[in-house]
Amino acid sequence: MSETTSHRRASYHSGADYLIRHTTLRQLQLLEAIVRVGSFTRAAEELFLTQPTVSMQIKKLADTVGAPLFRQVGRRVEPTDAGREVYTACRAILETLSNLDVALADLKGLKRGRLRLGVITTAKYVAPELLGEFAGLYPGIDVALKVTNRDRIIERISSNEDDLYVVGSIEDLENEVVTVPFAPNPLVVVARADHPLVGERQIPVKRLGEEQLLLREPGSGTRDALLKLLSANAVTPRVRMQLGSNEAIKHAIVGGLGVAVLSLHSLVLESCGGRLALLDIQGFPIERRWNLAYPRNRDLSLVAKTFLEFAVESEPRICAQLESAREAFRTHCPV
Ligand code: PGA
Repeated sequence: MSETTSHRRASYHSGADYLIRHTTLRQLQLLEAIVRVGSFTRAAEELFLTQPTVSMQIKKLADTVGAPLFRQVGRRVEPTDAGREVYTACRAILETLSNLDVALADLKGLKRGRLRLGVITTAKYVAPELLGEFAGLYPGIDVALKVTNRDRIIERISSNEDDLYVVGSIEDLENEVVTVPFAPNPLVVVARADHPLVGERQIPVKRLGEEQLLLREPGSGTRDALLKLLSANAVTPRVRMQLGSNEAIKHAIVGGLGVAVLSLHSLVLESCGGRLALLDIQGFPIERRWNLAYPRNRDLSLVAKTFLEFAVESEPRICAQLESAREAFRTHCPV
């Protein structure tokens, strides 16, 4: 074939430009459906079109391509070689379009949206900062945060009030709830800076039984973890007072009322301030974790999914904050 002839042919019945001008996406969608279901009639039904419309569009596509696209084999239609080539290309085109659709929906989803977080008491030291950073990345998203106790969090989970929950552990709900750990939550023994045990190393846990303890309220995860450790070591606690807030407990320690076990997160902002110290008691820190939780029967929204990934990726940064709080205690009130 001479160069001129081949050039002329390309400009009539081949070449991307010719196909772009004469092929419609609808025709490609029809061809894909016919190859997949093996019948013009069933493809027409699937796409809510009449059979003559389908036949006419496929004829136009065959004219554009310059070759028949289907042949009848018994009761089925099968693609010819040309039909198969067009099918392969149109699968790729349709798949790209469908991915584009998802990507656009995702973009819209993160441009606007809402994220409601239910946060258990002590997680208030980690969740708001995380939410603040997330809101900075996605300014179009409205964020809301509810800090409450364990019983209320469980109620909120059952009545689907929030998108995600930040909890310690909710073993009693593990069949109904998915939990994804995202940060450590070390529980440490905190005393006033002038406590006689400050500076001693590897104090036996039994010694804690001689201290006046400031205990969180029943239902607190921090409280449960401490009582479990004491009971495993046959230590009977001497409870001076029960308080429903970590802040109140810190003030009570400074007031000389006793020692307490608190999440290290609750000490990050003030670090030590010179008035509190950590005691080096065997078995501590109790290594708990923060989890993001959601009902198993619920699909996460795109925003919630993105926050979950963001939280998991934030772990190294949260660990660094905890480490600098530990360091501040070592420097100001050496254990
Ligand atoms: P809190 O902490 O219940 O003691 O506030 C949550 C947890 O550690 O489970």
